[in-house]
Amino acid sequence: MQVQLTSPLDMHLHFRSGDMLKTVAPLSSKSFAGGLIMPNTTPPITTKEVLLEYKQEILDATNGDNFTPYMTLFFKDDYSYDFLKSVKDEILAIKLYPAGITTNSEGGVSSLSIDNLRTTLEAMSELEIPLCIHGESNGFVMDREAEFIPIYKQLATAFPKLKIIMEHITTKASADAVLEFDNLYATITLHHLYITLDDVAGGMLQPHLFCKPIAKRPEDREALLNLALNANEKVMFGSDSAPHPRSAKEAPGCAAGVFTAPIALQLLTQLFAKHNKLENLQAFVSDNAQKIYGLKPIEKTITLEQKEFAIPAKYKDVVPFMANQKIEWRIV
Ligand code: DOR
Ligand code: ZN
Repeated sequence: MQVQLTSPLDMHLHFRSGDMLKTVAPLSSKSFAGGLIMPNTTPPITTKEVLLEYKQEILDATNGDNFTPYMTLFFKDDYSYDFLKSVKDEILAIKLYPAGITTNSEGGVSSLSIDNLRTTLEAMSELEIPLCIHGESNGFVMDREAEFIPIYKQLATAFPKLKIIMEHITTKASADAVLEFDNLYATITLHHLYITLDDVAGGMLQPHLFCKPIAKRPEDREALLNLALNANEKVMFGSDSAPHPRSAKEAPGCAAGVFTAPIALQLLTQLFAKHNKLENLQAFVSDNAQKIYGLKPIEKTITLEQKEFAIPAKYKDVVPFMANQKIEWRIV
């Protein structure tokens, strides 16, 4: 049995820079037509010059593959209208991190009050630049996403013309909230469709499944599955594939991030097939994102076949999701 996908898109992706970028970028560009590249590099992407350099580094690393890096800027509360206007054609969105909430987010915003965010958000709204948000409070780890929902609602109400993407949602509360406002959308990762907190910490601790936001309860995963498998138009695939060297994962003070890029399409196909929802996979991995962001991706057909595939133990020094496990689908 075969499945064909047209121009699959990964709308939340970490490429890093330097050697790591050279390792991971080709693994995405092989199977996707494009991806939304996160700006939490060190240092983060906050100027046009750095943005263009970073884009060129990505194009060099994905040389020859038909792959569009859709670029993002790292949100600052003092971006001027003129600056954003000058950079608008080079970016697809701006990503907001609360300060210190996850990997390389120290330069994020320290006050989420509407007044503090107004300058940048008014300009974004006028220039029609979508806002992607890592929506977690600094509260108790299991409650962080739920505690952030009132902020999403305030922003969606205060800036009705601004498209706001709730990144990597993990809870039933978020799955409900995204449906409540016309200008709220969400990405859903592969790993949050597969795992719950039990898989991370219910037995021996699994550092390669540790990420932010942490995987939640079975009923939360059910709510995400319900949106994704039915390809609800408010949600799209964003892997949040976040590579870290093995030494940073298998360590005290394990870095947050699950590396899924090279096996994302195979495992999504396996999941949609298992639930008899293959007819909705195209919308979840491409069509919904095209509508939400107004994209016309390059044409690229990816064919998957139902044949056993063993996920490698490592890609260079990065351990992927479900390393060494046999899965049912592979890319032809
Ligand atoms: O687990 C995560 N890793 N969550 C994020 O939000 C960032 C990412 C990373 O950059 O490593
Ligand atoms: Zn991310």
